[in-house]
Amino acid sequence: MDDIADKLQKEILNGIKKRYSAVFIEHWQNPRNWGIMDGADGYGKITGPCGDTIEIALMVRDGVVDKCTFDSDGCGTTVACASIVTDMVTGRTIIGARRVTESAIVDHCGGLPDEDLHCALLAAKTLHKALDDYEEKKKEVWKKYYSK
Ligand code: FES
Repeated sequence: MDDIADKLQKEILNGIKKRYSAVFIEHWQNPRNWGIMDGADGYGKITGPCGDTIEIALMVRDGVVDKCTFDSDGCGTTVACASIVTDMVTGRTIIGARRVTESAIVDHCGGLPDEDLHCALLAAKTLHKALDDYEEKKKEVWKKYYSK
């Protein structure tokens, strides 16, 4: 029985390897920075048309993203895209973080199947909402203490 389960698992993984890059599979299997921080400098939450939600929280120090975390109730692709975003923006300036778009995520993944592109779009949009929130809070510091 174990042989059949092992064989099946290998076949599934081989199918995944044909469709996704090693970078993507690594994030899919071991998502980074999962969990929303309290007192974030920037926070965004979006539910896509598919019903999946991504939340992204940022800590910014001297204009550089010091820490970025996420949460999601979405599928493996959504979680992997959000995880990739957190890795891509950490250490970047705010301007650099704004360059993390859907296409930048797809490039970082070494491409994605067409049916998964909306997951990268949702991750990018959520990041940009968190960056907008950061900019907003910077203008009116008191807001930080009355939001997530
Ligand atoms: Fe919903 Fe990917 S399936 S964002």
